[in-house]
Amino acid sequence: MSSSSSSKRSVSLSLLALAIQLLFIHSVLSQSQDNAFLYHKCSDIEGNFTSRSPYESNLNSLFPRLSYSVPSSGFAALSTGNKPDNVNGLGLCRGDASPSDCRTCLATAIPELRKRCPNNKAGIIWYDNCLVKYSSTNFFGKIDYENRFYLYNVNNVSNPASFNTQTKAILTELTKKATAGGHQKLFATGEKSLGEKKLYGLVQCTRDLRSESCKACLDGIIGELPNCCDGKEGGRVVGGSCNVRYEIYPFVKIV
Ligand SMILES: *[C@@H]1O[C@H](CO)[C@@H](O)[C@H](O)[C@H]1NC(C)=O
Ligand SMILES: *[C@@H]1O[C@H](CO)[C@@H](O)[C@H](O)[C@H]1NC(C)=O
Repeated sequence: MSSSSSSKRSVSLSLLALAIQLLFIHSVLSQSQDNAFLYHKCSDIEGNFTSRSPYESNLNSLFPRLSYSVPSSGFAALSTGNKPDNVNGLGLCRGDASPSDCRTCLATAIPELRKRCPNNKAGIIWYDNCLVKYSSTNFFGKIDYENRFYLYNVNNVSNPASFNTQTKAILTELTKKATAGGHQKLFATGEKSLGEKKLYGLVQCTRDLRSESCKACLDGIIGELPNCCDGKEGGRVVGGSCNVRYEIYPFVKIV
């Protein structure tokens, strides 16, 4: 082997080592960016699709379009194909996620959704930073009452009754803020003082909803807090059209 080809080889080996290091740093950073997988649900109520069907090809063209369209504004709702094989889908990033966090989240969520729901005509997946949903039914503008889950911090507060009142109050206030006339983002965050502690809240809807439907959706899930999060230090009610979260620590990124 000539010395020039061996030095080329050592350069490419060190480039490979650098690439591996960058991948490692990247995965550590992504974890610290708080983009955890939360939950998914596949549905076959609308039936299953078969491999190489028109539905599958419409689904395959939907996802790259969502990955492209969602990050700049944090939301997109799109349909691909013609009836009866058309697919409707949306992507929503958390209101405080940067376009780059949003893109990263979709790049994880979309392949994961395809893997978890390999031939379902409808499915949904949630991460901390984004939500992706698709269906053969046109669901745009309608409140999703089917898909819902709860998350909570196992720690109990010492004064549950007054704490519950405060969590409900901050989320109700944020709902008003997020759905006030002209508010395009259907997203609001805020904080409230609780003596020496602070309470932090977040509310968000998918932007296919009108603001009245967003308010109805949020009021509905705030009403479910007693079922999941009674006296808990932190809680989330997460649906396909809206979600709320409160914590006693700051969890919203400054944007
Ligand atoms: C869809 O496929 C799953 C398994 O892949 C099966 O259990 C289910 O019955 C199918 N549903 C319909 C409506 O065909
Ligand atoms: C919180 O309270 C519930 C119900 O009283 C109890 O089952 C649970 O163990 C408590 N959690 C902690 C972390 O103490």
